[in-house]
Amino acid sequence: DSVAAILVAAGRGERAGFSAEGPKQYRTIGERAVLAHTLGVFRSHPRISDIVVVIHADDGQLCENALGPLAERVHLVTGGAERQNSVRCGLEFLADLAQAPRSVLIHDAVRPFVDHATIDRVIDAATTHGGAIPAVPIADTIKRAAEDRTIAATVPRAGLFGAQTPQGFRFAAIRAAHEDAARSGRSDFTDDASIAEWAGTKVVLVEGAAGNVKLTTREDVAAAHERLKRRVP
Ligand code: C5P
Repeated sequence: DSVAAILVAAGRGERAGFSAEGPKQYRTIGERAVLAHTLGVFRSHPRISDIVVVIHADDGQLCENALGPLAERVHLVTGGAERQNSVRCGLEFLADLAQAPRSVLIHDAVRPFVDHATIDRVIDAATTHGGAIPAVPIADTIKRAAEDRTIAATVPRAGLFGAQTPQGFRFAAIRAAHEDAARSGRSDFTDDASIAEWAGTKVVLVEGAAGNVKLTTREDVAAAHERLKRRVP
């Protein structure tokens, strides 16, 4: 069964505040751009066929610099204003291929430390159940804050997980879910599993990896740099 991957890399990195260094996916850690690290993991995975990299309209040159000759072996697609729009651009591209994939993995380009074992768990569970995401149990005690930052509630942490990517789905189902979400004017979903849930698709959790962090802040990038220098796997 064919499995494609969409790496979303069209964000501006504004969540961490404007940074002169540009979007995180193009920052260099070790000797390569974050996006090149991420792509390397997917390209070397034996079960993944087509790879779509979704980039911002302004980032063509950045992407070419980041990927070098690797750029010719992926499909480059222009993304949209929100992550959800960017994913949809990738899905529509895949739908237009001569043969659409049976399953698709959707991954944040800013998670370069994803590993093959995690990808395998997601593919296996998504094939069986329709949808699967890697997740890790929440270790911290979770507080809900009021406007003035006083604690309004402590949320029981039993059964709470942090959602990671890649998130895997049967292609036809996630494409239809994204289409319905867009048609309903919803653009507030922060991951693809929430769109699948909203559309009524069953999504299961598989074991994620503590190291599969999302590089969001400047500190995250610095830590990633250190980690590669020390060659911590
Ligand atoms: O902003 P957020 O942390 O959710 O970004 C997660 C991933 O989604 C990043 O890899 C980012 O480049 C991507 N993204 C995108 N298009 C957007 C916003 C984010 O591809 N409009």
